[in-house]
Amino acid sequence: MQDTLATSQNEPSAYSNSIFYVCYVSLIVALGGLLMGFDASVISGVVGFIESEFNLTKLQLGWAVASLSLTATFAMLVSGPLSDKFGRKTVLKIAALLFLLSAVLSALAPSFTILVIARMLGGLGVGAALIIAPMYIAEIAPAKYRGRLVSLNQLNIVIGISVAFFTNYMILTLGESAQPWTQQLNLQHWNWRWMLGLEALPALLYFVALFWVPESPRWLVLKGKVAQAKQIMLKVSHEQQVDETIKQIVIASTSTDKQARLPIKELFKPAMRLVMIVGVSIAILQQITGINAVFFYAPMIFEQSGFGTDAAFMQAILVGLINIVFTVIAIALIDRIGRKVLLLAGVSGIVLSMFMLAYQFNLASYELTTQVLSSLPSQINADSIGPMIGVSYSNDLEFKHALVTSLGSQLAVNHESFFIASAIQLNQTAVLIGLLAFVACFAVSLGPVMWVLFSELFPNRIRALAISFVGLINSATSFTVQLVFPWELANLGATLTFALYGIFALVGLIIVLIYLPKTKGKTLEELEASLAK
Ligand code: BGC
Repeated sequence: MQDTLATSQNEPSAYSNSIFYVCYVSLIVALGGLLMGFDASVISGVVGFIESEFNLTKLQLGWAVASLSLTATFAMLVSGPLSDKFGRKTVLKIAALLFLLSAVLSALAPSFTILVIARMLGGLGVGAALIIAPMYIAEIAPAKYRGRLVSLNQLNIVIGISVAFFTNYMILTLGESAQPWTQQLNLQHWNWRWMLGLEALPALLYFVALFWVPESPRWLVLKGKVAQAKQIMLKVSHEQQVDETIKQIVIASTSTDKQARLPIKELFKPAMRLVMIVGVSIAILQQITGINAVFFYAPMIFEQSGFGTDAAFMQAILVGLINIVFTVIAIALIDRIGRKVLLLAGVSGIVLSMFMLAYQFNLASYELTTQVLSSLPSQINADSIGPMIGVSYSNDLEFKHALVTSLGSQLAVNHESFFIASAIQLNQTAVLIGLLAFVACFAVSLGPVMWVLFSELFPNRIRALAISFVGLINSATSFTVQLVFPWELANLGATLTFALYGIFALVGLIIVLIYLPKTKGKTLEELEASLAK
């Protein structure tokens, strides 16, 4: 149906009107991606504060971050069928309300449990927006622009991530300023609550803006509401073509019915072997190389590198900007140089950056000098830290262990960032370059390319089922990576943590090199004929 929605190129004026309309609708719908990106990454600024406020263990901290991906994984499974039943727009509105509810509840959370419940509600919105927003755009967009319009969603995701980094930074900075209004809002003591609560505004905006968006015409036809669908489609295309399109949707719906009854074992038939190997590998590779560990724990990583809390937030914003710029570059390149070249270049870059990070952390050493005694936080007794002065520790694990022995675990956790910043000897420029290079390489390859590949690898008949399946694997991998990251950093240390990501990327690179077919410029039917024999 998407292809038939394309307007004839012989009609420039109708065409530009329709493009304007489709862009406006797509931009509103893609706001779901923005909320998704914001909601998922805002937690990065929060972790440091809730860790001490609720006295969390490392695994609880991982849970605070990863719980969102757990419910997002579940929502990915159910939001497709729900949107078939109640409409795409209805599910998007529910997602907007969930984002709103999650923002308000997490801002007010009196306990860690309520905070996790609030994050999980947001996760339901994230999963729904991740699947339904691009699907809706694909269903209304002209074929010629479909790729780029669908990519608007990924662009919005990364913009949402950056906006969260930025607002986190602003709240922290304003909280420290002595302005009366910031004190009235209690920005300093409720900083993490404001960070999380701010999302209520865009969520409300999204909910209201969705009233100006039509329901997906394809869904309306499937529900027998042809007259209503025709009205919407006439804004995108001319009458003759609209009638033809509707006819084709009705014909296609017969195969959609078959598709709904497809058993999952269809995915594992020998003919599907190649596309499933590629789909599953890319789904895992996108997450197992650590992107969401870097995004959602960015300030924590910067603290471990001795940048200090404030600088850490600044660097986090840099991460966000690099992410946006390189996503735009990927969108410009993807139809020119192709998916495989982008992936090979990007994943090679990821391998190099991860090994560079591991190497730099391996070279780091930690030593407190007497200088630290003059700037000790008031809660720290100079005598308790005394035995560590002048001792050189060769890695972060030894140093953190010594801190816990000297201060006890509570004080050690609360002041870890201060002591690491005072003791670490590390090439910070190299670490910053390594992290930014990693984000750039991800944004130009695995980030957008995975979604494009998902939409073109699988045969028409099993596409929806297959995308749900690989999406689920992607989300579950993301959940696991986020959950174990704080534990990994505390128990394996930064060197091994980053080296592991590098090794995973290397394995992925080899799989891409061997298995990934070239898909650029081929029609979906040509791909189906050559890939799923
Ligand atoms: C991934 C997300 C990730 C985002 C970062 C998306 O394609 O699915 O997990 O946070 O890219 O840009």
